[in-house]
Amino acid sequence: MIKYILYGLIAVVVIIQFFGIDKSAPDTNEAIDFVALNHPPVEVEEILRSACYDCHSHKTVYPWYSNIQPVGWWLADHVDHGRGHLNFSEWGTYEEKKQKHKVTECMEEVEEGEMPLNSYTWVHGEARLSAEQRETLIAWFRTLPHEEEH
Ligand code: HEC
Repeated sequence: MIKYILYGLIAVVVIIQFFGIDKSAPDTNEAIDFVALNHPPVEVEEILRSACYDCHSHKTVYPWYSNIQPVGWWLADHVDHGRGHLNFSEWGTYEEKKQKHKVTECMEEVEEGEMPLNSYTWVHGEARLSAEQRETLIAWFRTLPHEEEH
């Protein structure tokens, strides 16, 4: 009996490998990208690209294990959600009010240590931000138009 359950499980694991995730990115216009529009200093750009862009832009770099299901599904879900909330690749299409709001959210999320997501920094050591990097990032966000802080 146990043997058949095991075979069944193996079959399921094999079959789901055929349902890989869609890694194609929508057409990207570099001119409306957040970094291109706001020219952060190099150290800030590096933090953004290594700690945020995988989920909040069309520049997602998928790790090899994204080819293994269900891990890939889980990653794709994060990217979908991340882009839905904030997409740095489409920054130029946001209205001024929305940009201000998102910049404010960024300061808050980074300050509270909510972003980058923990589940991401566990595997992406380079995205783990030091207190100093958080400060640098927040201080730079503060130079952009944002909502009043309370
Ligand atoms: C592993 C993917 C991932 C990474 C990396 C990541 N985020 Fe997020 N982010 C998300 C998801 C998913 C959400 C949606 C809300 C949630 O589930 O917490 C989100 C939500 C947000 C929000 C809230 C947007 C809103 O208006 O609701 C902000 C702001 C944000 N992220 C900023 C950042 C910044 C800045 C970085 C880099 C320092 C970053 N995120 C890194 C996945 C990610």
